[in-house]
Amino acid sequence: MAEPKANEHMEKIVSLCKRRGFVFQSSEIYGGINGFWDYGPLGAELKRNVKDFWWRSMTQKREDVVGLEATIIMHPKIWEASGHTSTFSDPMVDCLLTKKRFRSDQIDPQSGTVYFYSGAKDSTSEKVSSEAYSVLIGNGKHPDHARKIARQFYTTRGVANPELLGERTELIEGTVRYNPGNGSLFTEPRPFNLMFKTYVGPVESEDNVAYLRPETAQAIFVQFKNVLDVARQKLPFGICQIGKAFRNEINPRNFTFRSREFEQMELEFFIKPDETASKSSFPGEPGTEPSWGWEQWHKYWVEERVKWYESIGLSRDVLDFHWQQKSELAHYAKATVDILYKFPFGTQELEGIAARGDYDLTQHQKFSGKSMAVFDEETKERFIPHVIEPSAGVDRLILALICNAYTEEETTDEKGLKETRIVMKLHPRVAPVKVGIFPLLKNKPELVKKAQEVRDLLRAEMPVFYDDAGAIGRRYRRQDEAGTPFGVTIDFDTLGETPDLKDTVTLRDRDSMQQQRMAIGDLVPFLLSKIR
Ligand code: GLY
Repeated sequence: MAEPKANEHMEKIVSLCKRRGFVFQSSEIYGGINGFWDYGPLGAELKRNVKDFWWRSMTQKREDVVGLEATIIMHPKIWEASGHTSTFSDPMVDCLLTKKRFRSDQIDPQSGTVYFYSGAKDSTSEKVSSEAYSVLIGNGKHPDHARKIARQFYTTRGVANPELLGERTELIEGTVRYNPGNGSLFTEPRPFNLMFKTYVGPVESEDNVAYLRPETAQAIFVQFKNVLDVARQKLPFGICQIGKAFRNEINPRNFTFRSREFEQMELEFFIKPDETASKSSFPGEPGTEPSWGWEQWHKYWVEERVKWYESIGLSRDVLDFHWQQKSELAHYAKATVDILYKFPFGTQELEGIAARGDYDLTQHQKFSGKSMAVFDEETKERFIPHVIEPSAGVDRLILALICNAYTEEETTDEKGLKETRIVMKLHPRVAPVKVGIFPLLKNKPELVKKAQEVRDLLRAEMPVFYDDAGAIGRRYRRQDEAGTPFGVTIDFDTLGETPDLKDTVTLRDRDSMQQQRMAIGDLVPFLLSKIR
């Protein structure tokens, strides 16, 4: 019975997201639009913090990575070169029995006898299916084979003990309408293009078609030479980008996890091909690693990325790793490791770290006619760089952080009554609001004045929330649900009622609920050390 529990857990998270303004359904007053989500005030801050921290870690704190911010709509030839036009636009068919999906243009034509049925009725109940269905079997094969497949099909349509209706047969040659594996009829072929299409300019013709980018990566490849010319970088070095991408998913699901509009944080890290790398050494460790080829760089980036997730509160035990099998690899990849998070609805990918070889730059060289080769001074060789790509989805990471943070705890309120505390244990680095400021009472002007002074002092450095409404316990609870890691209470001791405590405040830790007295002057350095 794991599923209802997981659903219940997700429902609570979805409800908190709406109630506290992390995530809203897009266009909600019009009934929403499937696969699109908006971030409310807390969600917008959380998302911004995550992106800013990624940007700082991936480029500003590194010597060897620079940034790019490219357009969403680019020359449509880019998607031909990258393989997206052909890979995302194949005619697809599904096997009506197994639901397995095929490219109809890759089905070998077959000949044989087709057994047609007009439906089936249940021999032990009133249930009838009048859905037409057919099965192809090779010449000479026993008709029972076709009947067995047809009965299985009608069982999937809810007819538990099917008696087949209206059987007739026909010899057929060169058809691609049947699954070569089991003889089952396919669905009608339909184009399955994940790219959103639009037209550039006032004329809606095929010549003006453009696409909303399905990944940010390609802009990095097509600007590779421009960046190399200006960035004073030598291989190995990377270009990173954060931005929106769009995929017209057939089946958006699991809250924000699979959305049609989403954001990516991608790094393309350009390295020497193995043959060339083996003639030089890894920068910083001269002579120790004479052949930092793609496999070493791939492992390096997996480890770097895992450490990054740990630094925002996703420990290794909530993550999982999947080394893709050859059959799972994207057309461009030599190897891919997925970093996954254990969501309540299942363990799912947060980031793929792919070794893309020289596929993309070679393709763009071919399609654009512009050289993508670089000359390496060290080895005096010319080559097209290879690429390691850590590619993370921002929105699914935000969902992982929210799921990971959501905690229910049994506790007692100030009157000693048992209550359930809902607390979002977001890492202080990514938490939307860093500190709540609370005057003990709102009807004491001296307390309010002092609290506002503390608010203004802290607000210059970090997002704060000032709350003077209601009992202090309720104000703490509101900030617990918002994920605010610290609370500062200004009381009569702050004003000097106990002379030794003048200009100190109570600092409350969200997770432990422990309180300590701290001088107002120490607040900024203390809080900054926790949130940076
Ligand atoms: N650039 C890889 C991806 O978008 O999945």
